[in-house]
Amino acid sequence: MYYNWKEQTDTEELKIVCNLIRNGELVIFPTETVYGIGANALDPVAVGKIFIAKGRPSDNPLIVHLADRRKISEVADEITEMEQILIDNFMPGPFTIILKRKPIIPDIVTAGLDTVAVRIPQNIIAKGIITYAGVPVAAPSANISGKPSGTNIDDIRKELEGKVSAIVDGGETDIGIESTVVKVVNEVPIILRPGKITAEQIKEVAGDVKIDSKVFAKISSDEAVQSPGMKYKHYAPETKCQLVSYLNELDQIFYLKKLVKEYADNVVIIGFEEHEEKINLPYGKFLAISKKDDLEEYGKRIFSAIRYADSLKPNIILIEGVKRQGFGMAIMNRLLRTCEFNILE
Ligand code: TXA
Ligand code: MG
Repeated sequence: MYYNWKEQTDTEELKIVCNLIRNGELVIFPTETVYGIGANALDPVAVGKIFIAKGRPSDNPLIVHLADRRKISEVADEITEMEQILIDNFMPGPFTIILKRKPIIPDIVTAGLDTVAVRIPQNIIAKGIITYAGVPVAAPSANISGKPSGTNIDDIRKELEGKVSAIVDGGETDIGIESTVVKVVNEVPIILRPGKITAEQIKEVAGDVKIDSKVFAKISSDEAVQSPGMKYKHYAPETKCQLVSYLNELDQIFYLKKLVKEYADNVVIIGFEEHEEKINLPYGKFLAISKKDDLEEYGKRIFSAIRYADSLKPNIILIEGVKRQGFGMAIMNRLLRTCEFNILE
């Protein structure tokens, strides 16, 4: 079933959706980051359906979504002082923390790890569903494994229609990039996956922060990693993608133009409004998704733009990069994977 809650949540439909979750069915719902495919996290059979619907490798654990902070102690144990500081400052919000798990969380959720990823979404629809379902909700991003995350219902329906019991439409998601994932080791927060909550913000409240070495690095499929999701081919469409990220404006335009010629003009460029005229594509398409320094807008629209670019079947998709600072760190972490580490900079 499709439910349109773009204007407002329908309370009768909310009951139906929450019953589906309690009864072991899958529901797609919006969060402030990206859409999730949710199931009752305490029901291993229901969680198993998520892995099947997404084609997700079983060694990649899921995030458990809770209604509020008081629920954390139901799924996690031995919260340290630093973990509590992060919880108090960033939850609810686009932030996920890795905690010591309680046995109530089934193995299939955590891929057998002794930790559990916990997030409390801020989005009002997500909050409503998790609150009234009355159970923790395991939810990965709403996309087939390896594809860009779903940020609007049109994109998601093309990929996942028929694979879930309900789809809740809350319009385009606010942030467009998944949550910041953090694990505290020896009382120092380590960013396993960058997101809207930045390293700078974490450092401000924690005094220190580390970035996992895999955030900007390629990972071979058999390597042990802190965040297993980082090791798979990710955020990638069918078409070959190339990241172009020169700090110098003249170089940026020069190399984009050079690549346009190299690929016989049949290219799609995802980039900044200011560059559209300068590149002046004869045949291909320039998707100008934001102004040059508007990281918020760029991040919000990037996944959907990648899907649209792919549907046009060009010879190559050229994507403009951003500085690896602030929210830009999250955008570049995703784009490096989209482009399978093909970067000119
Ligand atoms: O914004 C988000 O986080 C979205 C929305 C729906 O909440 N969810 C999301 O889930 O992005 P997913 O499954 O696409 O990504 C979860 C990430 C993966 O990289 C996974 O490996 C990591 O979190 N993760 C989950 N449990 C973990 C654990 N116990 N230890 C380390 N990493 C973990
Ligand atoms: Mg995902």
